[in-house]
Amino acid sequence: MQNLKILAIESSCDETAASVLSGGREVLSMAVHTQIPIHMQYGGVVPEIASRSHVERIGSVVKNALNEANMTLDDIDAIAVTYGPGLVGALLVGVNYAKGLALAKNIPLIGVNHLAGHIAANYISHSELVPPFVCLVASGGHSHIVLVKDYNTFELLGRTRDDAAGEAFDKVARVLGLNYPGGPLLEKLALDGDKTKYKFNAGFNSKDILDFSFSGIKTAVINLMHNAQQKGEDINKADVAASFQNAVVSTLAEKSVRAAVMSGTGKLALAGGVSANKALRGEMERLSNKAGIKFYCPEFKYCTDNAAMIGSAAYYAYASGRRDELSLNANPSLPLNNC
Ligand code: KG4
Ligand code: ZN
Repeated sequence: MQNLKILAIESSCDETAASVLSGGREVLSMAVHTQIPIHMQYGGVVPEIASRSHVERIGSVVKNALNEANMTLDDIDAIAVTYGPGLVGALLVGVNYAKGLALAKNIPLIGVNHLAGHIAANYISHSELVPPFVCLVASGGHSHIVLVKDYNTFELLGRTRDDAAGEAFDKVARVLGLNYPGGPLLEKLALDGDKTKYKFNAGFNSKDILDFSFSGIKTAVINLMHNAQQKGEDINKADVAASFQNAVVSTLAEKSVRAAVMSGTGKLALAGGVSANKALRGEMERLSNKAGIKFYCPEFKYCTDNAAMIGSAAYYAYASGRRDELSLNANPSLPLNNC
């Protein structure tokens, strides 16, 4: 079981990815084809173009992952694939490819929840991390505070009521004239800015409410930029970026540390694309230390979408007896319940 070889596939959004793992935490290979340059010219992900690019690339990405691991399909014990949440057309490419491989090789198929995958990225980077712990999952589509009760059982403690954190970063970045994906570019711009220049407030500001709201803060930035434009005033965009990032990071960090304290687990992890944000990692670490909580976050290469994290989550699902039928379907709004 510990040496189980899993080939994992991820195609939920704009990355076609495959990875081979040995057991749940040893990554033997990782192949990723990013579509970012393709979608950049449209300022965001175009779902139909994403699906077509996945179809074109999935064969070579899987081949690269097997080659890099010095393996063929005959060495693989199980196939894992993201089946939701995500873009339905994009998910379907991975799900059908995985089903084809499982059928051809007569090996088990394991459907994986993309968010469970993001959480599992922490298992790869931290061999000592075991549930229970609290995890903040902040991506382009989700901002969840999750109690990870065991490897396959999750309880949602808090969530965004409107925009996800990554979505807010992307939308504000666009208003500041930055390209897609806005998060990393906004983070870079913020380095030159004064984070105390503007006072932006995220909604549900009380630490005791574990839900988030980011649409108000996004609107505040849009209004500030439009008003300045109408009055012909010059605004230092780096100051706006730094102030916006500071408001989002503070609310994410305060609420997740509060949830970790309330949980009694003594552990807090960070996951999802926004976990690549250094200001967020730093603030979560600072507040965790202050509260006596041990803080974990994935290495940068496992923060944004990849298939290694899907393989890790699949291993623990497999270990608990999970096997999927070839009738497995993509579910674009798959909830994070028991996986
Ligand atoms: O998890 P992910 O790769 O894809 C989804 O599952 O959505 O997350 C992508 C999101 C995007 O919104 C992107 O702007 C954001 O993560 N992101 C960041 C950073 N890197 C990626 N946001 C803030 N700072 C970053 N460094
Ligand atoms: Zn993701």
